[in-house]
Parts: sequence; structure tokens; C-alpha cells
Amino acid sequence: MFRGSFGSVLYDKNSVQTIRVDTPSARYDVVAGTGLLATLAPRIERVGGRLPRRVFVLTSPEIWALWGEAFQASFAEPPIALFLPAGEKHKTLASVEKLLRQMVAAGGDRGSLLIAFGGGIVGDVGGFVAAAFMRGIPYVQVPTTFLSQVDSSVGGKTGVNLPEGKNLVGSFHHPLAVFADIGVLGTLPDRELRSGLMESVKAGIIRDRTLVRFMEEHVDEILRRDAKALEKVIAASIRMKADVVNRDERESGLRMILNFGHTLGHAIEQVTRYKAMLHGEAVGWGMVAALHLAKKRGTISSRQAERLESLIFLYGPLPPLKVRAAKLVAASGSDKKNVGGVRRFVLPVGIGDAGVVEDVTPAELEAAAIYMLARAAERHA
Ligand SMILES: NC(=O)c1ccc[n+]([C@@H]2O[C@H](COP(=O)([O-])OP(=O)(O)OC[C@H]3O[C@@H](n4cnc5c(N)ncnc54)[C@H](O)[C@@H]3O)[C@@H](O)[C@H]2O)c1
Ligand SMILES: [Zn+2]
Repeated sequence: MFRGSFGSVLYDKNSVQTIRVDTPSARYDVVAGTGLLATLAPRIERVGGRLPRRVFVLTSPEIWALWGEAFQASFAEPPIALFLPAGEKHKTLASVEKLLRQMVAAGGDRGSLLIAFGGGIVGDVGGFVAAAFMRGIPYVQVPTTFLSQVDSSVGGKTGVNLPEGKNLVGSFHHPLAVFADIGVLGTLPDRELRSGLMESVKAGIIRDRTLVRFMEEHVDEILRRDAKALEKVIAASIRMKADVVNRDERESGLRMILNFGHTLGHAIEQVTRYKAMLHGEAVGWGMVAALHLAKKRGTISSRQAERLESLIFLYGPLPPLKVRAAKLVAASGSDKKNVGGVRRFVLPVGIGDAGVVEDVTPAELEAAAIYMLARAAERHA
């Protein structure tokens, strides 16, 4: 390993935050800050040793057009670019095979390195390609959407979809490091930003009441993409996820709480065939329903439920939602987080804490879905 010669380089004119992921199978840093692309190559060498002969970057044509030049600036030899077209329909085994073959053709070997430079789709596919190529090569995540910076790049889950369902094939393969450059979010469409922010709202509700307060008090700065405000929200969200993953890498217990808002969120995505809304937007509605259920069960007060629901709508607007409650309940029964027929559900406990229950009845779920649909109808009247 080649180490040390970059130790004295002064990268950080801008502030960066470093969060450690430390699980039984991997230990690495998630670095978040503005302008990281300018020093990417030396940063990677600092954690992984001298760059190998073949460095691949998996990205999408759109992201490369916007940020390719900035990405390459710190590399003496430009990495070999591989492209995945944007969109969930390309998150497939067919894409994986194509990419693996391109890597072989370009002389990739066991010593090669892959950098996933894009949103969650590029990250999930890139991680899986890295896990599979020659039985596993190292990779680095350079997430470019809000959602991928706070959520999908952290935790080592990689994979693709099958026609039968989302993320049904995959592997745990942790990156060498994650570099989340907040500046790159400057070109992200507003709707993608707001959708990603729902995962930060989730992070606050289940584990960080300071983040809840910060997001309540800094809506304008955050939506304006003020660097300092975004850095705070992103670092806190990553810290929350890293902390949960550190305690429960394989989702045998605690990691399940990351699924808050996702039971009905996934059901909405499924019932609307992934066409009506972005993931975070579906999770936003799912959280509205889950808050109602929590209020009914008394794990949060009415005032807390109201406060948290307002927070969700501060980062909306959430798209209209016109489906049947019973259909959502049926769809939630097939969630892949349900093991052995047990329906797991995450409930907030006060603000900044959460637990998992296994005794939520279909009737309770339906009542929560009906409440959510009524709120949706009201807001889109
Ligand atoms: N592995 C995990 O733990 C995990 C967790 C959550 C979600 N995911 C997965 O993440 C995926 C969703 O990720 P996503 O929300 O990042 O969506 P995405 O990857 O589809 O990106 C959204 C859109 O933004 C564009 N884009 C990306 N960066 C941009 C930038 N800086 N400027 C302008 N446009 C940009 C993309 O080209 C794309 O059109 C899903 O497939 C989901 O299953 C994985
Ligand atoms: Zn999510």
C-alpha cells in the first residue's frame, strides 16, 4: 500500500465532515463537503494506495456532461468512463453483464478500481459490478444526488432489480470510501432535492431531534442550497445512517428503523408502478400515514404528530395520490422486509427515537392509509 505522501496536502479550503462507518466487515470514511471533486484522486490514494493501472468510472451521460470535467481534474490519467443510462429500467442484470464485459475488454483486472459517480442507481449498480467483477474489486462512491449522499451510498447494500421486483438481486459490498461533494447538488432538479430531503426528515424523526429542529428552522436556506445548511443536514443524516449501520450491518434488528415511512411508501411505489412519484415523495406520504398510526397507538402525542407532519409538508409538495387504501394494504403485505409472514412496522417514539412492532393489523394499516389519502385529497383539492 502506498500511503502518506498526501498527508500534508492542504485540501480543505472549504470545510468537510468525516463520518466513520465501522462494521464487522468494513471500516471506511464518508466524507461530505463542498468542492471535494477538485481533490478526488489524492483523496482516493490516501485511503486505497496508489491508483491502479485501470481505474473505471461508472456514471450516466447526463452527469458526465455536467460534471465530467470537474471529476477528471484531479487525475493524472483520466479514468476509463463506463456509462449507464439514467432511469430505474436500466438497473438490471443485463446492464451489469454489459458493464462487466466492457471492463474485461478495457483490460480490467483484479487490481482495478471502480468509482461510482452518480445517483443511487449508478451507486447500486456500480457497487454490484464491483462486488462481482473478478469476485470483487474495490470501489469508491461519489454520490451526486441528495438521496445518494445521505442514504444509498452508505451501508454497503448494492444490487439491481428483477422484473419481479426492486432490489431483489444484490450483495453487501462496502466501498473504500464515500466522497459526497455538496457542490454537485447545484445542478440537481428541485424535485429530486426535495424528494431526497424526505430521507433526512426520516433521519431526524427516528433518531435526531436536533436535525428535526434544524430542518424546521432553516427551510429557506436548505431549499436554496446554501452550502452550510446543506452540509449540516447531509452530515447529520449520514451520521445517523452510519451509526445505525455500525450497530446492525445486516439488518437483523436496529437497521430496520431506517424503514420508517417505507412500508406504505414502497406500497405506493408498487401500486403506482413507480410512475407517479419519486422514492422520497412516496416515503413522505408513507411517513404521514405512519405518524397517524403512531398517534393512534400513543407512541407519539397528537402535538408531536402534527409538528412532524408539518415538517414533511415544509419540504413537499408531495404529488397527488389517488389509489385505494385496500390496495396499498395488500401491496404492503408483500414487502420484502416482512420475514416469515410477519408484518414489521416502524413507529416513531416521541421525536428522535423509533421502534419496530410486529403486531400492526391490516385494519390499522388501512386506517393509516385512509388518513393519508384524505390528507392528499385535501392538499390537492
Ligand atoms: N443501496 C441502498 O442502501 C439504497 C438506499 C436507498 C435507495 N437506493 C436506490 O437508489 C436509487 C435511487 O437513487 P436516486 O434517488 O439518487 O436516483 P437516480 O440515481 O435515478 O438519480 C435521479 C436523477 O438525477 C440525475 N442526477 C444525478 N445527479 C445529478 C446532478 N448532480 N445534477 C443533475 N442531475 C443529476 C440522474 O441522472 C437521474 O436522472 C433507487 O434505485 C433505490 O433503490 C439504494
Ligand atoms: Zn428510502
